[in-house]
Amino acid sequence: MDGNSEVNIGLMGLGTVGGGVAAALSGNADAIRRKTGRTVRLRKALVRDTAKARQPVPPPGVLTTNPEDILNDPEIQIVVEMMGGDSPAGSYLERALTAGKHVVTANKEVMSRRGPALQSLAQSQGVNLLFEASAGGGIPIVGCLMSQLLANDIRSIRSIINGTTNYILTRMARSQTPFAEALIEAQDRGYAESDPTNDVEGIDAAYKLSVLGSLAFHQPIPHHVIHTEGISRLAPEDFRYAAELGYAIKSLAIAVAEPDGSVQARVHPALVPDDHLLAKVDGVYNAVEVTGDLCGQIILHGQGAGRDATTSAVMGDILNILRTIDNDAGPPPMPGIAGADDPEGLLLPIDELSSAYYLRLTCADQAGVLAQIARILGDGNISIATVIQKDTDPGSGTAQLVITTYPSRESDVQTALAAVAELGVVVSVNNLIRIEQ
Ligand code: NAP
Ligand code: HSE
Repeated sequence: MDGNSEVNIGLMGLGTVGGGVAAALSGNADAIRRKTGRTVRLRKALVRDTAKARQPVPPPGVLTTNPEDILNDPEIQIVVEMMGGDSPAGSYLERALTAGKHVVTANKEVMSRRGPALQSLAQSQGVNLLFEASAGGGIPIVGCLMSQLLANDIRSIRSIINGTTNYILTRMARSQTPFAEALIEAQDRGYAESDPTNDVEGIDAAYKLSVLGSLAFHQPIPHHVIHTEGISRLAPEDFRYAAELGYAIKSLAIAVAEPDGSVQARVHPALVPDDHLLAKVDGVYNAVEVTGDLCGQIILHGQGAGRDATTSAVMGDILNILRTIDNDAGPPPMPGIAGADDPEGLLLPIDELSSAYYLRLTCADQAGVLAQIARILGDGNISIATVIQKDTDPGSGTAQLVITTYPSRESDVQTALAAVAELGVVVSVNNLIRIEQ
């Protein structure tokens, strides 16, 4: 192929992200030629509904509802998947790689579920499989872990990697916007998944943590064994009380390598000290803090979702492939995710976590209540750091009790909490949130 020859691209999906990529392929064609020496042509774009109004309007003959028009077309060298979901996208990617096509995907679910198998397939076929947009939106964290940070022994990843939940939490904290209203705003802006349950319940972040953790620790981190909690239990008073205590509430995705080689991986809301950088990450912004033995602590910050930011990540992958597409040596070997015999066994159960906690209870507003609760916590080896009584309601004779603890073992806290919930003076255990120090 000479330097000016065309490279044909097949897009799978032409929604928020696919629409941005289609616009960049046509609008930035000259810049792409300058940067890569290649002319790109959008040959086919797979959608569900060809009658849907789209911006930009696809050239005539480009839209198709038949995946075979891409998978069986020998002229298409690069397949870019932006459909979402594991099925059918995962099998399409497998077929594209088997057919010797380079693949770019924004699909964290596929990469989380099938990443190691697809990577081996790409390797054996001598083609690229790039997936920068699958985690962190416009933040180039995947490329960093795969190349620039490769020399490091990565110790931990602490991150905010779901734009929808961070947008919702920011709106709830800053302007007391109700959860449902903030979610609709995030959907209107194109941040949310087609089923926003995945965002709100932490599943999307668990897929992304699975991708990042696997790259960081060179072993599969299956998403289904990542301890995952969503944000739907958070109430306006949690934001108020947390702020009074000097914390923001963020949904964090954390993976930590323990000295014995096991990995602790979890996604859940957490209280983050106001002066920590992650506490200042607002709106659709994401941030990933990586700690490595050589690089120390690095924080990458940027837009984690949305058309333009995600297009940046997908287009970066496409341009990287265009620059090396004629390289006879094929792509360099993936800094792989070596198959572990028992990847699940390497993950520490959440019960073994040691963390400080924020606990909010509704209790009878009467003498002796705190003593009963403190006795149970003390018996469970849980040391109280602060106690505040808030929002007394003379009508019902109840008050909110907010307790923070020193670092304690999760299993002890859960056992004590179950006993506290049984006390006659406790109306409800409203929330238990881990505090990241
Ligand atoms: P979207 O707006 O819902 O678009 C999905 C596109 O895929 C649509 O064009 C849809 O066709 C097409 N499609 C879906 N299922 C299909 C099927 N079975 N057959 C044919 N076409 C199908 O989704 P998106 O927000 O662009 O997200 C796409 C991918 O990027 C997902 O993996 C997502 O997780 C990832 N991602 C999204 C963002 C973001 O900010 N949105 C950021 C990073 C990564 P129709 O248009 O005909 O409905
Ligand atoms: N729904 C995802 C988010 C899109 O809100 O972060 C980016 O992956």
